[in-house]
Amino acid sequence: MQKIRVGVLGSGDVGRVLAAGFAGLGHDVKIGSRDPEKLREWADGAGERVSTGTFAEAAGFGYIVVLATLGTGTADAIRLAGINAFDGKVVIDTTNPLDFSTGMPALSIGHTDSLGEVVQRLLPNARVVKAFNTVGNALMVNPDLPGGPPDMFICGNDDDAKKIVAQICEHFGWGVIDLGGVESSRYLEPMCLAWVLHGIRSKSWTHAFKLLHR
Ligand SMILES: NC(=O)c1ccc[n+]([C@@H]2O[C@H](COP(=O)([O-])OP(=O)(O)OC[C@H]3O[C@@H](n4cnc5c(N)ncnc54)[C@H](OP(=O)(O)O)[C@@H]3O)[C@@H](O)[C@H]2O)c1
Repeated sequence: MQKIRVGVLGSGDVGRVLAAGFAGLGHDVKIGSRDPEKLREWADGAGERVSTGTFAEAAGFGYIVVLATLGTGTADAIRLAGINAFDGKVVIDTTNPLDFSTGMPALSIGHTDSLGEVVQRLLPNARVVKAFNTVGNALMVNPDLPGGPPDMFICGNDDDAKKIVAQICEHFGWGVIDLGGVESSRYLEPMCLAWVLHGIRSKSWTHAFKLLHR
């Protein structure tokens, strides 16, 4: 894959893990936050390919833009970045609409809508691909599990964008299952909770999904 510029919106674990993963593949990365200063120490140790900036600077920098923001803050993060900054770009949406208000995580949207669809509606000129939302950040890059490569479930409306994201997932050590249009986020976002609930019940966080074929 040729070298690309990647903007990452999100200073949390997912943003950092994916930023480091892209840099490890030789891509240039700008990771963004409302407060880029908080990323300074981490970025100092992340190598010369990683720089920091605001959400707007990260979105403007990337040919590919990764959304790795809190579900409930994602629309605000997009507005802070500027809707036009995403025009024509591949947007990898890792987010989940998690609601922690009752203690155990639940979904704040579901069945007839999803955060993936909300993001695509907010960014009509971007090519949104839902990916990386069904596994914990520690396994997102080079999962290296004894049962072989797990499967990353993705969806989105643009086939070329999905090919690019599938190639990235493969470079990160994943098989890829394409579930169709972005409305399939309605099923991928609940899969996140299946992953989380198994982690809570088993007290182990080293699992990932794989589809077995005959
Ligand atoms: N953690 C995981 O292992 C995992 C796995 C799969 C999917 N996900 C999903 O990936 C996303 C990122 O998760 P995470 O754990 O890395 O971090 P997170 O704590 O969910 O999100 C952190 C990011 O959200 C931004 N943010 C929070 N509230 C905001 C608001 N009101 N307006 C604008 N931006 C706001 C923060 O901005 P600042 O930088 O300015 O603080 C920060 O960049 C989430 O949607 C999560 O559900 C997480």
